Amino acid sequence: MIYFDNAATSWPKPEAVPAAMELFLRAHGANPGRSGHALSIQTGRIVFEARERVARLFGHGDPMSVVFTKNATEALNLALQGSLQPGHHVITSTMEHNSVLRPLRFLEGRGVTVTRVACAADGCLDPADVAQSITARTRLIVLSHASNVVGTLCPIAEIGRLTADREILFCVDAAQSAGAVPIDMATMGIDLLAFTGHKSLYGPQGTGGLCIGERARGRLRPLLHGGTGSMSDSDVHPDFLPDCFEAGTLNAVGLAGLAAGLEFVEERGLEAIRKHEAALTARLIAGLRAIPGVRILGTCDAGQQAAVVSFNVDGWSCSEVAQTIEDRAGICCRAGLHCAPLAHRQLGTFPEGTVRFSMGIFNTETEIATALGAVRELAVQPKGGGS
Ligand code: ALA
Repeated sequence: MIYFDNAATSWPKPEAVPAAMELFLRAHGANPGRSGHALSIQTGRIVFEARERVARLFGHGDPMSVVFTKNATEALNLALQGSLQPGHHVITSTMEHNSVLRPLRFLEGRGVTVTRVACAADGCLDPADVAQSITARTRLIVLSHASNVVGTLCPIAEIGRLTADREILFCVDAAQSAGAVPIDMATMGIDLLAFTGHKSLYGPQGTGGLCIGERARGRLRPLLHGGTGSMSDSDVHPDFLPDCFEAGTLNAVGLAGLAAGLEFVEERGLEAIRKHEAALTARLIAGLRAIPGVRILGTCDAGQQAAVVSFNVDGWSCSEVAQTIEDRAGICCRAGLHCAPLAHRQLGTFPEGTVRFSMGIFNTETEIATALGAVRELAVQPKGGGS
């Protein structure tokens, strides 16, 4: 089996991740921040370690303003629904995932106006187009760092500079880049960084969070109110970080796994991870380019994208390609619209979609060669011709 669906969730996980989760459940699985006994304190330490590791990875000074959520979608909803009000204007792009598009569509029904800046055919966003869209009412710019369809990287630092002297928050959806591409909130001018734990941070599903920069503090309303283990004498939800955005018991077992995943990323080193994944991406793109009848979407430049490659094969639907290469070569990939309908409209692949290969640290050059062989075999063979 060849797993090329790391943009959906990374697999396998580093051995330390399930080991940390098992240890948590067997040895110290209490509720963090609620009770004063040793097991609760130990659990609190594990959660704090996860906060510290997240803060360190993203150049974010304050671990207490790392807020854990169940996924990047919840983090983005907190950033968008928590900060935007009727009359506000928000800028986004046509390459966004539904985790941005749908909350914004919802907010449009409540008096927020939205500009969706068109990206180029390869998914590239021109910062000048973003700059031109800013109005006196703009309060937020929200963009994905790396497209989940074609991997194209957004010029985050250039756009961050646009917001520096304005009352505009910059929110980055790092679902596809956190742990795979360097991110430094301070130098990139990011105010709100939404991340998932289960992709390139190698944690389990059900983990994610929002890093809240200094400029964004005090400008977000919580999505949930409830128990936090703090200010238990009051029926008013606390207003301090991280408790104000963490109502209810945390997914501490997931965070134990996430802390182990973050440690793995630190130990391997982001540069080494990026180098490995870029080499696989370059090899895949070069190989696909050499197959007649294959059309690759995106930049076709591994330096400008995450390890996500979308393509189609003449005469075959994307789902037929995915099913056939799984049947013949055990390749697990994703086909279709990848929850990003506007991106496919921009790429010219709506409503059919694309075949998407997304690689991670555990994939190899040999797997790329096998996958290329499977695509080549299919591309040169008329449909229904048998295997
Ligand atoms: N957003 C994830 C993907 O692109 C699930 O597959």
